[in-house]
Amino acid sequence: MNKLLVSLLLTLGITGVAHAAGDAAAGQAKAAVCGACHGPDGNSMAPNFPKLAGQGEKYLNKQLHDIKSGKRQVLEMTGLLTNLSDQDLADIAAYFASQKGSVGAADPKVVARGEELFRGGKLDQGMPACTGCHSPNGAGNAAAGFPHLGGQHAQYVAKQLTDFREGNRTNDGDTLVMRSIAGKLSNKDIEAVSSYIQGLH
Ligand code: HEC
Ligand code: HEC
Repeated sequence: MNKLLVSLLLTLGITGVAHAAGDAAAGQAKAAVCGACHGPDGNSMAPNFPKLAGQGEKYLNKQLHDIKSGKRQVLEMTGLLTNLSDQDLADIAAYFASQKGSVGAADPKVVARGEELFRGGKLDQGMPACTGCHSPNGAGNAAAGFPHLGGQHAQYVAKQLTDFREGNRTNDGDTLVMRSIAGKLSNKDIEAVSSYIQGLH
């Protein structure tokens, strides 16, 4: 692991989080109710429902705890996680992490601008490239809990970036890592980088 990443991990303070180990086989049955929106294998068809297939286990587990506690608000999932234990959430996270994520296509009109932002950031405004944490192919960093982005629906990605920018999603920790990055993105930037991500693999 390189120095930059180590210091990022320490800054984000997410090195020591311990969760129950997940069992993917047990998780498959527990995830049956999720399939209606996220797809049975986690490859959702609707662009406003995030794909969960191939997402990092640690990231999934954190989101499930955040959604359950209300730290991250997902109205569509109201009450769905209430009766699930930490072990259930860990198993479900392990199940979706073990599935293969599908990839979409980028809009050729904006893909070049999207790639520029993803790989180069906006150095004049002190915004780092996305690759530093989400990796050049969008695979993220599963061990660090940096989400996999490659192939995710553009509409969902754009909504997350807008929510971070407007302060409607605030579960990115005390360093406000995604809120500060998204704060540097215009609507056009968000459209371009989200489209690029949809086709990235
Ligand atoms: C009625 C539709 C619906 C159902 C059923 C549903 N979800 Fe969701 N889920 C959503 C929507 C919509 C979002 C994204 C909300 C947003 O835009 O932030 C989401 C977000 C998530 C996320 C965050 C993904 C990310 O990339 O950050 C996870 C994890 C998740 N759901 C897991 C589950 C699990 C596990 C179940 C079953 C126990 C489930 N969902 C059932 C609609 C649903
Ligand atoms: C310094 C590390 C870092 C950089 C650089 C970074 N991110 Fe993130 N990103 C994160 C972390 C950590 C999270 C997860 C926050 C959480 O736990 O909810 C995240 C979450 C996200 C999400 C939500 C994923 C989901 O499934 O809901 C999107 C979208 C995203 N980042 C896009 C970007 C884009 C686009 C860029 C570049 C413009 C970028 N990020 C740069 C660390 C980073």
